[in-house]
Amino acid sequence: MIILENEIAKIIVKRSSVRAFDNSKKIPKTKIMKILKAGTLAPSARNSQPWRFYVAISEEAKTKVCEAMAERNPWAKEANAIIVLLADKNFAVRPDEKKYYIDIGLCLENILLEAVNQGLGACACTAFDKELLTKALGLPEHLEAVVVVPLGYEAKGKKFAEMKRKYGEIVERRDHKDGTKKLEECIINLA
Ligand SMILES: Cc1cc2nc3c(=O)[nH]c(=O)nc-3n(C[C@H](O)[C@H](O)[C@H](O)COP(=O)(O)O)c2cc1C
Repeated sequence: MIILENEIAKIIVKRSSVRAFDNSKKIPKTKIMKILKAGTLAPSARNSQPWRFYVAISEEAKTKVCEAMAERNPWAKEANAIIVLLADKNFAVRPDEKKYYIDIGLCLENILLEAVNQGLGACACTAFDKELLTKALGLPEHLEAVVVVPLGYEAKGKKFAEMKRKYGEIVERRDHKDGTKKLEECIINLA
């Protein structure tokens, strides 16, 4: 068995999608800023850095984002904050080929890992109505909403039980721990 041991690897192993939040505590803004900063340190094609962030913290802003969420993501409204990861197509390299999705994906992983480092949980979500979200946030044409990241303090104990009652089994999915493919299944060639 391969065991990952260094600090980054520990965070990679620890991360899994969190869908149940304890929103009774507020996230200090410094934590959010550190998470966003980690996002901006991702590599990008020709250093284009096409990522932009719409961060919903107020109830009003979170409600706007959640209006566009798919039915399978009702738990998102309990998040302490929601980061909408946008791509600025004016800065994207060859936007017609959608390669900027790779840049946004790398930014996303940095965000998810730094959230763990900050003691928070998060979940990447692409099940949302892009058109509706664009309208709700009043985004200009060059800003494309690519992924929505609800984040917050992971609900534990009674609070978790409450979330599960409200939103069902989805809030306790732990695919990263239970359903990860064997490394051997993923390697097509190693020579
Ligand atoms: C691009 C992308 C889109 C996703 N969209 C959703 C989503 O809309 N709703 C949801 O509950 N989870 C979503 N997920 C989370 C995945 O279901 C989750 O990452 C996967 O099951 C592996 O579990 P883990 O993150 O705990 O390792 C998404 C993940 C990615 C990378």
